[in-house]
Amino acid sequence: MKSTALIALAALLATGSVAAVGGPPGNPALGKQRFEATPPGGQSCASCHLESGAGAIDDSTPLLAGQHADYLAMTLRQYRSGERVNVLMNAQVAPDGTNPLTDADIENISAYLAAQRSTLHTYQPPRRR
Ligand code: HEC
Repeated sequence: MKSTALIALAALLATGSVAAVGGPPGNPALGKQRFEATPPGGQSCASCHLESGAGAIDDSTPLLAGQHADYLAMTLRQYRSGERVNVLMNAQVAPDGTNPLTDADIENISAYLAAQRSTLHTYQPPRRR
């Protein structure tokens, strides 16, 4: 029945459980909070990747702003499980780390970072006259 379907859709939208079609599933506002939060005894993501992931404290720390959400989520899961090895990142996001990430944290942070303006750019050759 048409009205039943509409009520079900309205209920889903009201709970916020339907992500924008084609968009990342995470909540960017929660992702921002999580990215900037300093855990007890640990340090925030932003302390190395800078505000909105658009910079970094040194050249070995990657820029994150504007990266694809799927890629960010995949690689954060890999750091968490140890499949991707990096002493700094593993020591934080692993379940027994100083800044452990839940599945929801990963989705939210990835959605937040993907929505930020990237500071990377491609070379634009000078215009010919
Ligand atoms: C102590 C500094 C530091 C902190 C704090 C830190 N990172 Fe990183 N992060 C790094 C470095 C260095 C790398 C590069 C590691 C490598 O080569 O694999 C990295 C890599 C990453 C990558 C992979 C980027 C890519 O292009 O593949 C993601 C995503 C990431 N960090 C997210 C986070 C999140 C989310 C947090 C907070 C939970 C965080 N980082 C906290 C230093 C840090």
